Amino acid sequence: MNLIFDTHSHYDDKAFHDDRDILLPHIFENGVYAVVNQGTDIASSRFGIELAEKYERVFAAAGLHPECLNEKSINDLEEIKRLATHPKVVAIGEIGLDYYYDVPRELQKQIFTAQLDMARELDMPVNIHDREAHGDMLQILKEYTPKGILHCFSGSIEMARDIVGLGMYIGIGGVVTFKNAVKIVEVVRNTPLERIVLETDCPYLAPVPFRGKRNNSTYIEYTAQRIAEIKGIAVERVLETTKYNAECVYNINVKQ
Ligand code: NI
Repeated sequence: MNLIFDTHSHYDDKAFHDDRDILLPHIFENGVYAVVNQGTDIASSRFGIELAEKYERVFAAAGLHPECLNEKSINDLEEIKRLATHPKVVAIGEIGLDYYYDVPRELQKQIFTAQLDMARELDMPVNIHDREAHGDMLQILKEYTPKGILHCFSGSIEMARDIVGLGMYIGIGGVVTFKNAVKIVEVVRNTPLERIVLETDCPYLAPVPFRGKRNNSTYIEYTAQRIAEIKGIAVERVLETTKYNAECVYNINVKQ
């Protein structure tokens, strides 16, 4: 039985241009139950939908990533909303705040909160990106209380507790397997498995022993193994529970 649910991937990325149609059927024969491809702009959201139309176990999220914004992005919201009504679009994502990049913070907050409003209106979950913006992120999430996932979690144990308290899920990827990972290991130890989902963020952030290489959803096995080790439980339980969590948050159920 396939137990890997990759809640956050970018199979539209050019890193997959040469072999996408070989790789995707391959992963579904090698432990992967479902993947959600995240949109970063209109083009990638559309590409994700095309993949979802082609492959039964691929689902899409539509959204504007903070890194991809400019003054005209506000005009793109209407198209994102239209794309979000496609039957295989399961979330608004990848949306959020990224203070590492130079995109003006006020613009980021404006487009992020507009997409949180959109998700609420459409009764959909969100997939959220938060890089070096923990304070503003937490404040906005407390105000808007969306359903969904905080992906590639990089905050403190206290922040994880707040996110769980808001009814959201914590997305854990390859970073937890890195030798220098300390904070995220403590977050995993202290967060109930019932509030964790797994992800790749592929092609990026491949877990050890593939660190630095192109990532894909089958490598989630290594992330799950590390979580099992940290929590002192069986890897099957990690995979089963996180799959169930992802099915609940995205409201997906595919026949095995
Ligand atoms: Ni991403």
